Amino acid sequence: MRVSMMGAGYVGLVSGACFADFGHQVTCIDKDAAKIAALKRGEIPIFEPGLAELVESNMRQGRLEFAAKASRIGEADVGTGDEIENILREQRPEADIQVVSNPEFLREGAAIRDFKHPDRIVVGAEDERARSVLAEIYRPLYLNAPPIIYVSRRTAELIKYASNAFLATKVTFINEIADLCEQVGADVQEVARGMGLDNRIGGKFLHPGPGFGGSCFPKDTTALIKTAHDHGVPLRLVETVAAVNEQRKRAMARKVVVALGGSVRGKTIAVLGLTFKPNTDDTRDSPAIPLITALHDLGATVRGYDPAGMEQAKPLLPDVHYCQSAYAAAEGADALVIATEWEQFRALDLARLKAVMAQPVIVDLRNIYRSDEMRRAAFRYVPIGRAGVE
Ligand code: UGA
Repeated sequence: MRVSMMGAGYVGLVSGACFADFGHQVTCIDKDAAKIAALKRGEIPIFEPGLAELVESNMRQGRLEFAAKASRIGEADVGTGDEIENILREQRPEADIQVVSNPEFLREGAAIRDFKHPDRIVVGAEDERARSVLAEIYRPLYLNAPPIIYVSRRTAELIKYASNAFLATKVTFINEIADLCEQVGADVQEVARGMGLDNRIGGKFLHPGPGFGGSCFPKDTTALIKTAHDHGVPLRLVETVAAVNEQRKRAMARKVVVALGGSVRGKTIAVLGLTFKPNTDDTRDSPAIPLITALHDLGATVRGYDPAGMEQAKPLLPDVHYCQSAYAAAEGADALVIATEWEQFRALDLARLKAVMAQPVIVDLRNIYRSDEMRRAAFRYVPIGRAGVE
């Protein structure tokens, strides 16, 4: 099949490369001519594990190409399909075109795996020919037999927004439960495990943290809230989730203040992880940004390190002292904050950290360490929603 992908960002590029890998003939089109020129030279504009190899091999085998062209792409919204159809009908009334909604459910950092092993494929189209074209495009996945559900276009669009809003709600729910755990002396990791073993609840997306970020949850919850409001159906639960999450990100600075005995003025704080989650260079709506801004506002100096996101972070956080490793960031720091759970932060040499830090204090916003190992290493340790080390 021949596939043209409008937009060569995260979703377009990953999906385009994966469709090419299935054997289809794919052209990825973007209005950013510089990006397209770079892609043609084999340079990948984003950090996504496995993507460079996939693009390279499919280009080499002649199934994947790139082209620059101006395009009109609207805001994220339920009803985007109708808008696109109107534009097409206006400009090409004679063309026999069907507009289908085929939402993606790819996570950054695991996008290729998610594309090739989806939980489900959603096709929003009522037209039989359109449905069979989509079935043919996804046919290479049938070996794994993912359920493919055919629904109306509006329904498909809503499945996407409702899924992201629900996951964002799950994360926000466990974050609030974590706050309660801290006050009543319970352990949120065990609460999440105990809840998650109930199949009706499920254990995924119950990991507490500094609040959700990224390009999707914040954007999609906002789009859903706006659409619902425009239709006179306020989604109060989702509205609250968005508001609670916003407050939470900045509130994380309080944890650092408390860990340092009430003030961070004149103190140096090392922040590990600037992206919104590991395995991406994406800093969009990253919780690290309001956290660091709040620490600056409170008079602290911030030293930062991220394995992939420092270039993206620099324009957003110009006052951070950027360092080349976790240990370099920790030098002279009064506290070290783990903001993103990159693998390389999971087994830091605690003795080495202690030797370079001004004070042995770790604030673990992703709960990647255990209190007993921190106690042994003589660190003050502040995790989320469970007992730390005083
Ligand atoms: C999300 C969805 O998971 C994808 O299914 C969807 O396709 C994508 O949005 C999209 O709409 O394009 P993504 O934004 O890449 O994917 O990242 P997630 O892994 O979902 O994480 C989102 C945020 O929630 C991150 O900040 C993460 O740290 C946070 N999170 C996630 C938690 O704090 N706790 C969790 O248990 C899970």
